[in-house]
Parts: sequence; C-alpha cells; structure tokens
Amino acid sequence: MRSPIGPYLASIVDEIRPEDSGELADYIPELADADPEPFGIALSMLDGQVYTAGDAERPFTIQSSAKAFTYALAIRERGLTKVLAHVGVEPSGDAFNAISVDERGRPANPMINAGAIGTFALVPGDTVEEKFDAVQRFLSDCAGHDLDIDEGAYTSELSTAYRNRGIANMLRASGGLAAEPDIAVEGYIRQGALRVCAKDLALMGATLASGGVQPVTGKRVLDDETAGHVLSVMTTCGMYDAAGDWVSSVGIPAKSGVGGGIVGASPGRLGIATFSPRLDVHGNSVRGVAAFERLSRDLSLHLM
Ligand code: DON
Repeated sequence: MRSPIGPYLASIVDEIRPEDSGELADYIPELADADPEPFGIALSMLDGQVYTAGDAERPFTIQSSAKAFTYALAIRERGLTKVLAHVGVEPSGDAFNAISVDERGRPANPMINAGAIGTFALVPGDTVEEKFDAVQRFLSDCAGHDLDIDEGAYTSELSTAYRNRGIANMLRASGGLAAEPDIAVEGYIRQGALRVCAKDLALMGATLASGGVQPVTGKRVLDDETAGHVLSVMTTCGMYDAAGDWVSSVGIPAKSGVGGGIVGASPGRLGIATFSPRLDVHGNSVRGVAAFERLSRDLSLHLM
C-alpha cells in the first residue's frame, strides 16, 4: 500500500509555499545571492524509512544546524564535565551572534556562535584540519554518507568573519577558549559550510532522536545519555531568542541555520528537517517554522 505520509507532506509544502516573507541572510556574501524559492520537508523514521516533499534533496550549507552535532562530538570525545567547564547550557535570550560570556568566562550555551566556537575548540586535534576532519567525519556518520564542503560559502564567510573573530578573541582573553582563536573560528566557519539537504538533516535528527544510532547504517555514534543531553539543549537554546515561542508552539528539540535549514528530533520517534532560505528576524527559516508548527500539531509531536 502506498504510504499516505508523502502526499501529506506534499500538501504541507503546497499550503506553505506561498508564504514569502523573510529575508535571505545578507551578512554572508554567498548566502545573499542564494535562490530564495526552494522549499523542502523530510521526515526520517528510526528504522531509516525517509519521506520527503518539495526540494528535500536540494543542497544547502548546514550553518548553525551543525552546532548541535559538534556539541555532541565534543561531549563524546571530552566528556560532559570538561565541556561544561567551557560552555554553559543557559538559554541566552539573545541573538545568535551575541557577544556572550558569563562570570566563569563561558558562553551561555553551545547553540549561539560564541558557544559553538568554544565547542569547536574542544574537538580533539591541534590544527584546523585535524579538528575539522573529526567534525566532518562525525556529521557524515550522522547523515549516513560523506558530506562535502561548499568552498565558496566557506571563503565568502571567512572574508567577513569580523564579529566571530572578535568573539573568539574575547573568549580566549577571558580564559575560556581551548584553542587559538583563528583555529576555532576557521574550523567553526568550515563546519557551517558543510553541504546537506533536508533528507540528510532529517537522518541526522533521527540519529539524535534514536539515542545515537544512525537509522540507515545502524552505526552507534553516541551513547544514549549524550544524545539526550544534546536534545535538552536544543529544546531550550536551539532557536535562539525565539526559543520560548518555539517550545510553546512547536515543542520539538531543534536547531536552525542561516542557510535555511532546520533540523528537529522528536525523541524516540523521528527526525524532521525543513529547508527554505528566507529567514525571520531571529535567523530562523520562516516557512520552516510554519512547517514545524503544522507537523507538531498534526502528528502530536509536542514534548508536553
Ligand atoms: O556564524 C555564523 O554567522 C554562521 N556561520 C552561522 C550562523 C547561523 O546559522 C545562525 N542560525 N540561524
């Protein structure tokens, strides 16, 4: 029997597609030139069955959605206690690029840029290449295939990374950054330039939702406890200063990216991803937020 899920997702894409509010991220030259029109949705069940609609195989840069996964890798490799000594878990209520440092010299959480730069610094390796290789390998393991880099997006963002360089230097000066600022910033920007599609992101979300097992390859990439911790931080901090609205209206652990992707993970149930490049004032995809609201309601995915 043909599954009703595909047509259901297609109906959501058709309904939400006319929504054309929001703006492309314009502070990264390459993103400012992106096609604003694509819109895709993907769901990945925990047995590896994937359902898609719209532009779910269209590639885009993962940007901040990578932060949740690099955080998971840092905890796997360094242990939670060590990671928490460098990066907090408090929602900041501030924008993703806020200059964030608490009284212990730590960024508020790993989902904002400051915390993600701090997290990247904790990944094992001495050079950008060594650290980045570990990140690329881990994110590829979560997706179930090798993810490549959009070199244009990487060099484009690197050429205008004044704010992230400022944040990294400030963290290093306050004693909280576990690597040289240039290494941390270059690797952090490189991880954001990894190319994914909504289908990849849904499988990555399903890897977290399952407690750390990639649904297609069956590879365990995280222990259950680490996956659960990452989902908690995604719940409270993944959507930045819209996190409160998100928890009340959607209630699914999620992480957005300025490339237009949102990855969600419904614990024990499925991975969800949307892609549409126009962003709201918080840097979250407008159609993506609308699609998640709809899916949460229709499929009773709200955590509470
Ligand atoms: O650091 C930056 O500005 C970007 N590479 C990533 C920011 C981002 O994706 C924020 N998300 N919504």
